[in-house]
Amino acid sequence: MKLLVVGADGQLGSDVVRLLSPTVEVTALVMDELDVTDRAGLRQAVESVRPDVVVNCAAWTAVDRAETEQDAAYRVNVLGAANVAQAARRVGARVVYFSSDYVFDGTATQPYDEDAPTGPLSVYGRTKLLGEQATREANPDHLILRLAWLYGRSGHNFVRTVLRLARTKDQLRIVDDQVGCPTFTEDVVHQLWTAIEEDCSGTYHCVNTGRASWYGFATHIVHRLGLNIGVIPIQTVDYPSPARRPAFSVLADRKFDLEQLNVMRPWEDALDDCLLRYREELSHD
Ligand SMILES: NC(=O)c1ccc[n+]([C@@H]2O[C@H](COP(=O)([O-])OP(=O)(O)OC[C@H]3O[C@@H](n4cnc5c(N)ncnc54)[C@H](OP(=O)(O)O)[C@@H]3O)[C@@H](O)[C@H]2O)c1
Repeated sequence: MKLLVVGADGQLGSDVVRLLSPTVEVTALVMDELDVTDRAGLRQAVESVRPDVVVNCAAWTAVDRAETEQDAAYRVNVLGAANVAQAARRVGARVVYFSSDYVFDGTATQPYDEDAPTGPLSVYGRTKLLGEQATREANPDHLILRLAWLYGRSGHNFVRTVLRLARTKDQLRIVDDQVGCPTFTEDVVHQLWTAIEEDCSGTYHCVNTGRASWYGFATHIVHRLGLNIGVIPIQTVDYPSPARRPAFSVLADRKFDLEQLNVMRPWEDALDDCLLRYREELSHD
């Protein structure tokens, strides 16, 4: 099997390439080599590689900046998604698109399953929802995985932010009234591979199990790494940001559960695994 990964040096893309390369033939293209908004270039690249699966890891992920740079976010998350899906279809390949818990409005009291009504609160969330729709329309052979609160061993993420702040501050003020599913990129790659091998198609939720607030997520990191810093819970209103975020965006991996294909662990176990790497980094500081 041949995989083409676009947006291959992002947080998730780099793990897809690193973890799947030993198993399958992977061609990895980063933004400088292939811009997903360049439809002709994309077609040419896909036609030359002729992959079985195109994994679209390219995305505009600056949630707050999307509020003022709507066109730029739309170009990558929607037009880019359509371009990737169409190019894959032309060579008979499956396309994988990653979406987000931010397609929901956060008013639910129970975890969202795949059929729950969407209602994004932000430009980013709207572009991810439109990106899903564009992918479905452009290529019937699609797999859409909705992820949430992603962190990995590399890239910009909440774990790294907590570590950085712990070096310069003696107290962290972290939002406690937004609840979601911290999710480890490596677990997403394992679930992705299972889904590809099992020929899953359609839209699936793919998050580590359980739930946490950002405050709960931060305290877990601080305790496990033994960081010398206090963590104070605050409310969203005390930390104003340009984009509105859902208060409750817990996802249920219901379809993977029903199909007995769910390989996602409790979020605390996945985070502990990832923190081993950060602990090594700290010990070298
Ligand atoms: N991060 C989260 O918490 C989270 C939560 C839910 C869902 N997701 C979704 O999960 C997926 C992976 O997220 P991530 O955290 O890995 O994102 P990321 O680290 O921001 O990676 C995105 C990658 O896309 C590349 N890119 C941007 N514009 C491009 C373009 N026009 N053409 C080609 N490549 C382009 C970026 O390159 P440059 O770095 O050079 O710009 C980067 O390598 C995304 O679809 C995201 O929406 C993320």
